Amino acid sequence: MEAILPGAPWLIAHRSMLGINKPYKISLNGQDYVLWQNQQGEVFALDNICPHMQAPLSDGWICSDRGTIACPFHALEFDGQGRLHNADKVGSQPLLNSLELVIQDDCIWTYGGYSPKIPVPDLIAKVSSGMSFLGVAGEKSIHGTFLDSISINYDYNHQSGTHRDLFGIKANRIPVFEHDGYYAKVVQELEREDSTWNDILRNPVILTAPKTYTGTLEYAFPALTTFRTDFSLGEILQVHALYPETATQTKTFVLVYTQPKHPILQPLMGRFVLNAVATVIEQDTRAIETSYSRQPAKIRLPNEEIMFYAQKLYREWLNVL
Ligand code: FES
Ligand SMILES: [Fe+2]
Repeated sequence: MEAILPGAPWLIAHRSMLGINKPYKISLNGQDYVLWQNQQGEVFALDNICPHMQAPLSDGWICSDRGTIACPFHALEFDGQGRLHNADKVGSQPLLNSLELVIQDDCIWTYGGYSPKIPVPDLIAKVSSGMSFLGVAGEKSIHGTFLDSISINYDYNHQSGTHRDLFGIKANRIPVFEHDGYYAKVVQELEREDSTWNDILRNPVILTAPKTYTGTLEYAFPALTTFRTDFSLGEILQVHALYPETATQTKTFVLVYTQPKHPILQPLMGRFVLNAVATVIEQDTRAIETSYSRQPAKIRLPNEEIMFYAQKLYREWLNVL
């Protein structure tokens, strides 16, 4: 396949997603890779295809004493540089390509083998400062193109339909939309409908949600959408990562950070927030996967210029030096 946005930095995982000494498979722009993290926190990434008879190394296992990955087919072992380990001998040349990684604040980034066109953004460190990492939610492969998948993150009208039963939104105002190159910031004010008894029974925490709340969204195109909001229990930050697995499949996951108003609220907030984020991702995925293929829209809605801004960056990517 032709690479989508070659030279973009992609957030492919958070350390917590890898575990220790466990193969973790990713697909990026049509190539499969296997990643693993050792006890010391070093992370390796190799082509996922065994150079012997093409078995997927991610189905194999890690030999922690030698720091190698063993192939599931004939158990040949390769180190993090892709060199064959045979008894005590180490091959002099790598037989597998390794994928170059950039690790920042427990986040694992890669350019997927392309030369960098823009730097790895420092947005996560900036927006999460003073908050604690809660976990990862909503890890999912969406059957949809990267453009369709990213567009929903810049679409300020989809909450009313796609997330109707979660928020019951009555009014939606956008007092701020500013952008500077690949960075953008949006402030959104949402006014919720009155909760019904059914809503409260289904989700009692709704009682603690304010009638009107303000979300601040900051974007580092194309990899990140961050969403920070203040609830009565505390502050919540979601970092939505998106990267193209193939031409028609897009990976997403959300890093969630919190700052509870009181430490005693952390466990309650933790469970509620991770479940809510997973539900939001399910709903977005459904919207993307069930829509018919894009035709020029015959109707315009307010604030769509935010979505057009992202689509323009996508279209003009190759023209940028
Ligand atoms: S296919 Fe991997 S060792 Fe044979
Ligand atoms: Fe959404």
